[in-house]
Amino acid sequence: MIVLQHAKDYDEMSKIAYQAIREILINKPDAVLGLATGSTPIGLYKEMIKDYEAGNVSYKNMVSINLDEYVGLPVEHPESYRSFMNRNLFDHIDIDKNNTHVPNGLADDVDQACADYTAFAKAHPIDVQILGIGGNGHIGFNEPGTAFSSNTHKVELKENTRKDNARFFDNDLSKVPTHAITLGLQDIMGAKLIVLLASGAGKAKAIKEMVLGPVTPDCPASILQTHPNVIVIADEAASYYIKG
Ligand code: PGA
Repeated sequence: MIVLQHAKDYDEMSKIAYQAIREILINKPDAVLGLATGSTPIGLYKEMIKDYEAGNVSYKNMVSINLDEYVGLPVEHPESYRSFMNRNLFDHIDIDKNNTHVPNGLADDVDQACADYTAFAKAHPIDVQILGIGGNGHIGFNEPGTAFSSNTHKVELKENTRKDNARFFDNDLSKVPTHAITLGLQDIMGAKLIVLLASGAGKAKAIKEMVLGPVTPDCPASILQTHPNVIVIADEAASYYIKG
């Protein structure tokens, strides 16, 4: 079931998102966090850092599992998702980096790395999964057409996803990796609570299809209609078509 919360703007979206997960962070010191990259969750991560700095929450015994990683991008590249997570969250809280997991985009045996990642996620059920959404309805890098039964797998990124991300690669499409490893839709559905954030007009159509459209792999996020516990927090522009 999807519960919708409207926010006026990005800032309010981030604050509402933090309030939605704060109780879990405080009451479950060994929580497993499913984390996402991209522009969308940065404000939420800032809220997490602020509350950590205020001494209200500790991540010392928590485990994190990130959704995805580019294939072939060196870990130290500023746009690798490992770098992103260090820069935007992990370097600023007391989480043990050994407990932070990001798919290995440099694995020699990608299939094995994917199988290991799903096995790890199964053994560490995610208490709260943070998600953004692609303009094409992807979650993680599960692009349109991905089987709902998918586990962690290697994907070829769609042209529009690569174009969306080119802004992080000097607007040079040729620098944007062509493949990624992503947690599968079935793995994501294993999370106890899912909090999906969306900001900006570029997400409005995907949000409408996710919430009101048919449950179909054409819009991977539509699978969330069948999850028991989803909160979608969308700002004004992203909720344009679903304001009621
Ligand atoms: P964004 O990406 O947060 O950078 O908009 C979200 C996504 O593509 O999942």
